[in-house]
Amino acid sequence: MKTILTGLRPTGNLHLGHYFGAGKNYLKMQDDYDFYLEIADVQALTDNFDNPDKVRKNVYEITKDLLAIGLDPHKVHIFIQSKIPQIAELTVFYSNLVTVSRLQRNPTVKTEIAQKKELFGNNGESITYGFLGYPVSQAADITTFDGELVPVGDDQLPLLEQCREIVRKFNSIYGETLKEPTQVLSTTTRVKGLDGNDKMGKSLGNAIYLVDDEETIRKKIMGALTDTNKIKKDDPANPDVCMVYYYHKLVNKEANTTKVCSECQKGTRGCVQCKKELIEAMNNFLKPIQEQRKYYDEHPEVVDQILKEGTSQALQKAQEQMSKIKKAMKIDY
Ligand code: TRP
Repeated sequence: MKTILTGLRPTGNLHLGHYFGAGKNYLKMQDDYDFYLEIADVQALTDNFDNPDKVRKNVYEITKDLLAIGLDPHKVHIFIQSKIPQIAELTVFYSNLVTVSRLQRNPTVKTEIAQKKELFGNNGESITYGFLGYPVSQAADITTFDGELVPVGDDQLPLLEQCREIVRKFNSIYGETLKEPTQVLSTTTRVKGLDGNDKMGKSLGNAIYLVDDEETIRKKIMGALTDTNKIKKDDPANPDVCMVYYYHKLVNKEANTTKVCSECQKGTRGCVQCKKELIEAMNNFLKPIQEQRKYYDEHPEVVDQILKEGTSQALQKAQEQMSKIKKAMKIDY
């Protein structure tokens, strides 16, 4: 059985983008692999160091979201990064194997520094050592568990490349010890935001969360982008530029979606009606997820136990891997 390792930063609840882009893939993979799913609290702190309450709260929020979509804790080891000291230890060892300039050139890091002007300054002049180094820590996340396959979004590819470079460097110096990980890109495309933005995200304010209640869903969908050329209710329009149609395709039945498309093109469907139907379809889609979630909200002790068990299995794997690594590095005193 191959080992899968992936991580999520606990900085907010999961939204539809996470579900279709990542969660659905996890569900498919959980039967066939030794699957380690890291709640990356240490990584979340690299740009939320001043907000520990947010990170702590979201460790539980994300775990409950993952369980609500149907991840089976008997199949997937869900664990908390900060509870595995070997990851921090390995990050220190790896920090000798990567140059500062290489990290500064990492495209993912560059983009993120540009997005976080408030924290790191206009030109990244106030970048912290920890944030610059998080790709090194992510390489440790992966290799601590001998991760062979890493399901990620395409924004993470430069981090995977960085990890492979570190692995090759390690193996060339200390002898063949670590495996080079391979990415598993999501088979679904990235889910666009309600405003038509290519990406759905919290900071963009265009996301539907798995925990959103009916009123929130209603408000969000009523404000979604439609064909701006359609002025009157009976104008024919182009569904391909309409986010309401886009979401019908994601969550509604195929027969309904076909109807939405042809009526929209013919001009026999008003946007308000179309949005109302989407609201209903969206609520139906989210209902089973939210029912599952309710159980975990009402039983925090079950969530604690799941994290405890996942973390203890992860710890065992990390200890085995660390003794191999220390032996290779001749620090196995
Ligand atoms: N950086 C990833 C993200 O922001 C989260 C993550 C942490 C991760 N550790 C990982 C992903 C290890 C893959 C493997 O989405």
